[in-house]
Amino acid sequence: MTLKNTDDRWGGLSQLLHWTIVVLILVIAYIGLTMGDLPNGPDKIRTYALHKSIGITILGLAVLRLLWRFYAGTPKPAPGTPHLQERLASLMHWALYALLFAIPISGWVVNSSAGFPLQWFGLVNLPAIVERSRELHEAAEEAHELMFWLLALLAAAHAGAAFYHHIFQRDATLARMLPKGWLRTGEAVLADTSNDKDSGHAA
Ligand code: HEM
Ligand code: HEM
Repeated sequence: MTLKNTDDRWGGLSQLLHWTIVVLILVIAYIGLTMGDLPNGPDKIRTYALHKSIGITILGLAVLRLLWRFYAGTPKPAPGTPHLQERLASLMHWALYALLFAIPISGWVVNSSAGFPLQWFGLVNLPAIVERSRELHEAAEEAHELMFWLLALLAAAHAGAAFYHHIFQRDATLARMLPKGWLRTGEAVLADTSNDKDSGHAA
């Protein structure tokens, strides 16, 4: 597997970063939506700290991912993709990137404006990024939650589009975001069938 992106595939590093971020978002969303209901005590504090540490990790991975994208480039759209669909996909990807930055930063603002300390997995102390402020705290809390639901909506549409490409357009959009050979595309199946016919293997 090549590490760098090519014209027709995402390389290993882009794939690893994409799917690691997806898994971390699922985990952090579950923790975020359930941690408020925990009984007060050390477990609750530890769970909030875990949520924040995973969130900071996502922020770091998003920075890495964007830097790698600028360096390694992106594959060309799957052949035959209409121009409007290409524009919409690109708009969606930039909206997802924007949220991958804005959500953890708003969480950091929630934390700093409440005057809480912030540590990354108990290993690194991170500074406050805003002054203590009740109004800002409340606004950031709302923004954090609202942007999360927007991400959930856009990510669901984005995943739906990936499956649509795979199932109905039968192109390699989804397969090229996965290791080679994990997913057969309709194009490959059609090519195999016509090769069989050409070589007299068709029944
Ligand atoms: C991509 C990263 C993140 C996602 C997807 C995420 C998601 C969420 C969700 C779904 C909630 C529950 C919202 C609610 O129902 O009220 C929440 C709450 C919270 N998050 Fe995050 N979060 C992320 C990163 C962070 C970071 C980096 C921090 C802090 C450094 C943070 C701090 C908080 C805090 C303090 C709350 C509780 C807010 C409240 O009490 O209403 N989050 N987060
Ligand atoms: C939280 C969830 C997700 C986020 C934040 C996310 C984010 C992104 C972003 C930002 C890109 C653009 C990459 C770039 O141009 O640099 C991308 C590409 C892609 N994502 Fe996701 N994604 C998520 C979930 C999923 C899921 C669940 C699937 C499939 C089931 C998926 C399939 C793909 C595919 C196939 C591409 C490549 C599209 C292409 O080559 O044009 N993503 N994703």
